[in-house]
Amino acid sequence: MKRPHIVLIGLMGTGKTTIGKRLARDLGREFVDTDALVEKRAGKSVRDVFVEDGESAFRDIEAEVVADVVGRDEPSVIAAAGGAVLRATNREHIKGCETVVWLDAPTSLLVKRTSNRAGRGHRPLIDVDPASRLDALRLEREQVYRDTSTDRVDVEGLGIDEVVRRIVDIRNAAAEVAK
Ligand code: S3P
Repeated sequence: MKRPHIVLIGLMGTGKTTIGKRLARDLGREFVDTDALVEKRAGKSVRDVFVEDGESAFRDIEAEVVADVVGRDEPSVIAAAGGAVLRATNREHIKGCETVVWLDAPTSLLVKRTSNRAGRGHRPLIDVDPASRLDALRLEREQVYRDTSTDRVDVEGLGIDEVVRRIVDIRNAAAEVAK
């Protein structure tokens, strides 16, 4: 049996948190964001974990959080931070969920969406030359996002409502198959 969650994966700036919140509200589910839970567990911001403890310490906490959220009984909407798919154990947890949607968008859009918090937000990996960094991350991760997801939604040109509608359709189709 698959875990009853909807998991959103994809690069920084694809809208996992924004879409996830709206989706959760519309479906009457709880919304969980792995970055927010990492911050709670670490007692400091994602940026501070990266800067003070290093990326691998961040990935260790992230892995604990992924295992926890996927293990919840309550059907939830989970926004899995962009790098959560990097560890094999995380991928296994995520693939064990009913619906895993890869949100995708061209790098130009991701740069636009992430630039307002550049240098101070929770994305230290793209502080310098975000377009090249995001292209490099795409190259590294694209196949992983593809293999880990059940579906892909290209969000370019779509409003929040339309993206949410598509994910609801995807999840209803998955539930139908699971019957
Ligand atoms: C990261 C994505 C970020 C945050 C951290 C690392 C990544 O989360 O976890 O900066 O490696 O892609 P979002 O995907 O929510 O921006």
